[in-house]
Amino acid sequence: MPTIIAIDGPSASGKGTIAKKLAAHFDYAHLDTGLLYRAVGMAVIRAGQDPSDAEAAEREAKALDAAKALTLSEESALRTDQASVAASKVAVIPGVRAALLKFQKDFCQTPPNGKAGAVLDGRDIGTVIAPDAKVKIFVTASAEARAERRFKELQERGENVTYAAVLADMKERDARDAKRTIAPTKPAPDAVILDTTTIDAEQSFEAAAEIAGKKLATDE
Ligand code: DC
Repeated sequence: MPTIIAIDGPSASGKGTIAKKLAAHFDYAHLDTGLLYRAVGMAVIRAGQDPSDAEAAEREAKALDAAKALTLSEESALRTDQASVAASKVAVIPGVRAALLKFQKDFCQTPPNGKAGAVLDGRDIGTVIAPDAKVKIFVTASAEARAERRFKELQERGENVTYAAVLADMKERDARDAKRTIAPTKPAPDAVILDTTTIDAEQSFEAAAEIAGKKLATDE
């Protein structure tokens, strides 16, 4: 069985960077599962429908070519704020989550390129997608710290936003992710909590690599 590392947490907690670096460190495959929800959200918008429309969203989720959506050329459109808002709306729809389940489970069972393991990051990896993952880390940070990071990122991209608006938006999306009845963002009981409020990306990766390294060593 491939070794699975599950990285969950709210947006801008640093989990994406941690997951990418961990995958390179262990030579495992990496799947940013948020991209799947973003791809469905954008597909609904492109079809001229509302991302909150369960029927339309489920239809697009079932029709999604997940492998294609994850290619680099598609990715930049999925990183926009519009995609992020649409993703958080389609992610509450049970039929959408069900349609995306198989691709994620298959990725865990057979990581691409014959890799011996996979790192998946998202909201429900340790709880739903890979409850048997050898390593589970729940990455978190204060809403203010996460809003600050997102604000800087948007500013660098030349987007005209205020910190207050980004913080309000972050809190609204946290609430939507945490309160949904299906697969809400919450740590698995056996997850290690990693708080990145006061540490940078490199320190966050080092802390995660230490947690993962110890866990893998004790399980072997
Ligand atoms: O991690 P992200 O910002 O790319 O996620 C976008 C949205 O998708 C976010 O609102 C939560 C949702 N999501 C989810 O419900 N489950 C996942 N495994 C990944 C993302």
